[in-house]
Amino acid sequence: MSTADSVKVFGPATVANVSCGFDILGFALDEPGDIVTAHKTDSSGLSFSCLQAKALGIPVDSELNTASAPAAKLLKDLGYRGGVHLELQKNMPIGSGLGSSAASAAAALVAVNRLLDSPLSREELVPYAVEAERIACGAAHADNVAPAIVGGFVLIRSSDPLDIVSLPCPENLHCSVVHPHIVLETRHSRDILKKSIPLRSAVTQWGNTAALVAALFMNDLQLLGRSLQDVVIEPERSQILPGFEKARSAALGCGALGFGISGSGPSLFALSESEAIANLAASKITEVFQDLRIQSEAFVGRVNAEGAKIVEDQH
Ligand code: HSE
Repeated sequence: MSTADSVKVFGPATVANVSCGFDILGFALDEPGDIVTAHKTDSSGLSFSCLQAKALGIPVDSELNTASAPAAKLLKDLGYRGGVHLELQKNMPIGSGLGSSAASAAAALVAVNRLLDSPLSREELVPYAVEAERIACGAAHADNVAPAIVGGFVLIRSSDPLDIVSLPCPENLHCSVVHPHIVLETRHSRDILKKSIPLRSAVTQWGNTAALVAALFMNDLQLLGRSLQDVVIEPERSQILPGFEKARSAALGCGALGFGISGSGPSLFALSESEAIANLAASKITEVFQDLRIQSEAFVGRVNAEGAKIVEDQH
């Protein structure tokens, strides 16, 4: 097998939680995303650069950056003694609820693994990225990193030990994501959550989560729509999200199956049964932010089944 000397990988944005599945459900998008290029060097150890780091306020210290830190651990575990340089092109907004740190981690891990001729499977890379989430927000949740690496819709049965299940995705399911230009740190949106929940809420949430998984297997979009309800996290987080209720009414009013907070917010997402409805939902949510004089950007597309994509592989 030949060894690649330079590999460039796109790490995708992800929608985590998917309303009722706090920390246990997520899916990958086709855009936006970060790009990591890994190439072999003549020195030893890992070096790291990111042109946008200073402007974005993200760490360049390779032990703290969510691209380089998991890559360094992977190289160490693989016993690689040569040199590798990682260059992160940080395209994703920080604190957006779109899995920015996960996108960097996924791209870096897939690039380094490919550079060494893929000794690990995609699934085996996920625990490395989970540790990167711990660095980024203090909590080792896998609902962004798992779909960013393996693609599609993913269920996290357990984070420790990690046990992830890839779920099927209805072909005509389309997602609209709108990112208002407000920064909300995941660490903060986790800190505001109550640490216990009423049994009644837990029962409702379990019903919805189980039904959402069933809907994906049964290709039942109406059931999927009924299941996209979060009675645990959303009531708390929506309090700090401007325009949330209006955006929900706008999305559901134009026919979206369901609506919710993407990850820890402030981005919002809707799922729809056609591209036309998904486009309409995106523009209606965007109008809500326009009325609030908040700039935003929208992304519409299918679920990204592939996850992180190798875009260049030079031998
Ligand atoms: N499940 C995590 C949370 C996702 O909601 O805090 C963070 O993007």
